[in-house]
Amino acid sequence: MNIDKIAELLNKNDKLLLSAVSEEDRYLSQISEKYSVEKSALFNSARKMMSYGLLKIINEITIGYSLTELGRKYLSSGLPEYVLVKKIRENPPLSYQDIKKMPLDADEISAAIGTLRKNKIIQVNMDKFILDETKVGLIEKKNALLDMSDLDKISDNVDLTDLLRRNIIRKSETVNEKIEITENGINVLKSSSFNKDLVDRLTPELIKNWRGVGFREYLLDTEPLTRPCGRRNIAKQFSSKVKDVLATMGFKEMHSNYAESSFWNFDIMMFKQDHPDRDIQDTIYIDAPKPKVPKELLEKVKQVYEKGFNSAKNDKSIGYRREFDERKSKVLIMRGHTTATTFRYISDYISKNKDAPAKYFSVSKVFRNETSDQTHLPEFYQVEGIVYDDNLSLSDLVGYISEFYKKMGIDKIRLKPTYNPYTEPSLEIQAFSPKINRWIEVGNSGVFRPETLEPFGIKKNIVAWGFGFDRTLILRLGIGDIRLIYGGFADLDFLRSAESRKLFGEFS
Ligand code: PHE
Repeated sequence: MNIDKIAELLNKNDKLLLSAVSEEDRYLSQISEKYSVEKSALFNSARKMMSYGLLKIINEITIGYSLTELGRKYLSSGLPEYVLVKKIRENPPLSYQDIKKMPLDADEISAAIGTLRKNKIIQVNMDKFILDETKVGLIEKKNALLDMSDLDKISDNVDLTDLLRRNIIRKSETVNEKIEITENGINVLKSSSFNKDLVDRLTPELIKNWRGVGFREYLLDTEPLTRPCGRRNIAKQFSSKVKDVLATMGFKEMHSNYAESSFWNFDIMMFKQDHPDRDIQDTIYIDAPKPKVPKELLEKVKQVYEKGFNSAKNDKSIGYRREFDERKSKVLIMRGHTTATTFRYISDYISKNKDAPAKYFSVSKVFRNETSDQTHLPEFYQVEGIVYDDNLSLSDLVGYISEFYKKMGIDKIRLKPTYNPYTEPSLEIQAFSPKINRWIEVGNSGVFRPETLEPFGIKKNIVAWGFGFDRTLILRLGIGDIRLIYGGFADLDFLRSAESRKLFGEFS
């Protein structure tokens, strides 16, 4: 279309925006303030002129940080680990009894001790806490971060993961629309029609007296801005494929709730009651009335936990020889693994029909108090599987794992011994990601320990696994970041592209 014609199509706001942009005002919010025009009106103008090819809109994302309420509290008191370090330094060597007297609550104390021990800043020797002065700098630096009057100025190479995860600081993103004028835009500005005063709204007066007035023309031949239509996210498609694959392998689907009691998520699997996975830093607790827990089963779990059991088939189990606290079972959380669901099925189905072999699976969501990165999300999917039959062994498990990943089109996997409180032996599954250029964990598996099956009176072996669905998906898609698939960083163009769809075609 010719430049003069385009110039005649612009209304007052369009012209104002175009002139402002040509004079180095680049941001919509800035222009809106300067000329007192609503930002939404300017945004409409910008989109319209973008479709005419007069300007470009670039979304600039700025990341900022601020202290949360907890952060502000720590700003004046110091981070618990910092407070603890100072205390140990003043009164070395400090005992646990002394620490308990400090003005910190129990969660803060255990988290602080955990962090300090993990970083080898303190050592515990005969209940005395000893400080390694050479490493204290790390904690001092972290504490000083809170003090920065302007967290916004934090540079990329400061590691804030821990502070974010503990909800001490929060991250925010603001989008600023930056406008750039194009060649055509400049030509329109210069065109003789730009300053013509054209009327684009009829009034009763104009109808009576319109001679000599210039009207803006309607543009009847422009293409509408195309909008992509809605589609299922590829993760949903992939999930259907995975379910099909497992169904053809003879597995039945399991279902249960996202919210679960600690009993089904931890105790039934013999997680020690002070196991770090139960920490509020890893598990999402729900402030809700106590969930119901099956009384008889709870009694049996408590028995095995405290004292173990005797069985002809297995060696004697001596239990943890510690007190089991029922109150810790009756707490509602967001389930951290779908193995909670597996144990509900063991209880509801397998234990009630011990002669029949059984195979179950689920592809469902789990929740962990985690900061997102390339391979982590606080909500993610697990592909859980369980097989109950006569004479199962580790090699059967390896067989299922290999078959599944082969069917997923992932050949390069390796297995590594690992530890779970509820399986023995246990195998971690790793796959090589060419994009990330290292082996990443894609699953975890094992043979359930007799202690976890004793409360159900089950004597046969059960093999089970939890595969990371999202990580398998990114390997399959040949991308190196799970955040491209869900949430604010999702790459919609990629998700929509035929390329990513084609990859699943190969399954069917
Ligand atoms: N629950 C484990 C996880 O979340 C996976 C797993 C399932 C391991 C069953 C062993 C047996 O990582």
